Amino acid sequence: MKVYTFLLFSCFIAYGKAQYIAGGEAVNITEYPYAASLQYTGSGADQTCGGVVLSATALLSAASCFYTANGALYNPGDWRARVGSSFVSTDGRNYTIRLITAHPDFELTTRDNNIAVLRTVSFIELVPGLVEVARIAGGAFTIAPRNSISAIGWGAAKASEPTEQLHHVSAFVIDQETCAVRYQDINFAVTDNMICFGWLDVGVFGQCSEGGAGSPIVVNGGVVGIHSWSNECASLRYPSLNTRTSPYWKWIVDTANAGN
Ligand SMILES: *[C@@H]1O[C@H](CO)[C@@H](O)[C@H](O)[C@H]1NC(C)=O
Ligand SMILES: *[C@@H]1O[C@H](CO)[C@@H](O)[C@H](O)[C@H]1NC(C)=O
Repeated sequence: MKVYTFLLFSCFIAYGKAQYIAGGEAVNITEYPYAASLQYTGSGADQTCGGVVLSATALLSAASCFYTANGALYNPGDWRARVGSSFVSTDGRNYTIRLITAHPDFELTTRDNNIAVLRTVSFIELVPGLVEVARIAGGAFTIAPRNSISAIGWGAAKASEPTEQLHHVSAFVIDQETCAVRYQDINFAVTDNMICFGWLDVGVFGQCSEGGAGSPIVVNGGVVGIHSWSNECASLRYPSLNTRTSPYWKWIVDTANAGN
């Protein structure tokens, strides 16, 4: 049985350098008004990661986006979020980040608990239908294998496309045990905090890691996971791994609302 219990944030709490979505199609931001492009201005302000709007001062993303390879946290002020635009570099509004809070149990090497809350310097202007607060799957939410769900992200769906626009693609939740067994090949532990997503033994349609971490997977307009990483791009053997939001929703709300 599927239990769709989405946590609704109150009003107060309430973009491409690489291919992110494979086999999908370009989409208008109005279909995913909570989507944000996160850009590291320290290296030319490219699309670096994705995220979603949590409130007028907070966004949700993947913790792994904000650490250098040797484990140092980037300076928050070198990051900005563009919201309300279908494109990485134009339209909408951009907001500078002032605080990055990674989940305290996040580990860069295992990618477990790969989730982070960002706070903005100034208030994000919420515009119905264009810039909205995301609904985040709460504690009781579960999703069964073989459900078709959507992934979004900035970046090309094909190598020949310009990489500017938001894309989406539909694929499936993959059985946890099957996913874990596949990842044993490369000695990677798939934990219960991860949702495996893709087209098993088909590939082609799905998520790619580079520039795509932090972007959401979505069911019925609610965010159920945040892309963590994938071994290969839309691989037929390895599903992509997403941090399940439901175990973290209380931490997400508390961190987004914190008075710091
Ligand atoms: C998205 O939809 C809005 C509202 O219909 C429209 O004004 C805008 O031009 C569209 N943008 C793109 C990139 O198609
Ligand atoms: C970011 O937003 C500021 C003001 O909100 C604007 O002046 C600036 O041009 C924007 N930068 C980009 C790259 O869109």
